[in-house]
Amino acid sequence: MSLQENISLLPHNTFGIDVKTKKLATITSVDELKNILSNNLSPIYILGGGSNILFTKDFDGLILKNELKGIQLINENENEVYLKVASGEVWHEFVCYCIENNYCGMENLSLIPGSVGASPMQNIGAYGVEVKDFITEVEALHLKSLKIAHFSTNDCEFDYRSSIFKTKEKGNYFITAVTFRLNKQPNINTTYGAIQSELEAMEISNPTIKDVSKAVINIRQSKLPDPKEIGNAGSFFKNPSVSNEKAEQLKTAFPEIPNYPQNNGTTKIAAGWLIEQCGYKGKTYGNYGVHKKQALVLVNYSNAKGQEIYDLSSEIINAVNTKFGIELEREVNVL
Ligand code: EPU
Repeated sequence: MSLQENISLLPHNTFGIDVKTKKLATITSVDELKNILSNNLSPIYILGGGSNILFTKDFDGLILKNELKGIQLINENENEVYLKVASGEVWHEFVCYCIENNYCGMENLSLIPGSVGASPMQNIGAYGVEVKDFITEVEALHLKSLKIAHFSTNDCEFDYRSSIFKTKEKGNYFITAVTFRLNKQPNINTTYGAIQSELEAMEISNPTIKDVSKAVINIRQSKLPDPKEIGNAGSFFKNPSVSNEKAEQLKTAFPEIPNYPQNNGTTKIAAGWLIEQCGYKGKTYGNYGVHKKQALVLVNYSNAKGQEIYDLSSEIINAVNTKFGIELEREVNVL
């Protein structure tokens, strides 16, 4: 473990915000984690890949940088394999590991920034797949009792971009490992239109999981800014759900509105479209703004302040509310 004091968080957040933390501990084992927690009185924040956080000010506490590593095959049968993955593994590296070993299911989730530990936290999802359908258990350390707890899929209370770790148990646990059940035979999911058209452009009719991964990577690279080049944290807002009744009113007023009826009496609306209709897509304010190819993504071109980006997000929430009567919710954590 390393412990640094009064250090910049610039290299530790993909938004590229330059704030300081009082302390930063890099955690490489659960024992180290227990040790530092048993001697700590400061506020704590757990950082995985730093890809879903907007820092708006210096942090007067202890940041735990998760560097727990390792992938273990813990069980398998004729059709499935169970992998227990340490939470500090880089998400995309884990996806690549699965593809190389022909463990199927993660391919649609290629190139999502962040760590394995963050994947259950916000139930990451993309191109028709959500990680909750592959997670069988989450292991986590309770920050106060320092006891390890095991959460079944049910215990996790997964929802769209949410879980118990973002709601009832927010701030109470450090996720140490996640167990995934993956298929030995591919079950290719190309229901999301963009994958289908990308595979056609690649002239592939019988895709392998590697082809699907490549198609997803191509789509992401064409639409989403690379955090190594332009600071961002992916979708800044969630796609909102409205009642079916409200959706009907919206469809009458705005016939082209992208809408996705759910099976619980609600309809999901594309937040990117709502923001674009309010004139924000590609809008820049000096060194920050809204991405030009995907209005859900706010960007830091260089040295922007977290507070400026936060204020822009509030302005967007107000504009969308005024025009459509929908209150957007931030997906990114704000500190
Ligand atoms: N759209 C616009 N303008 C925009 C952006 C989108 O009109 O600026 C429209 C598109 O034309 C399309 C619809 O909105 O009709 C949906 O767009 P897209 O397929 O790009 O997906 P999204 O709903 O905007 C979500 C996830 C992404 C994920 C993609 C693909 C959320 C908050 N975001 O975006 O996840 O990659 O679907 O599955 O659910 C992330 O969470 O960080 C993220 C990037």
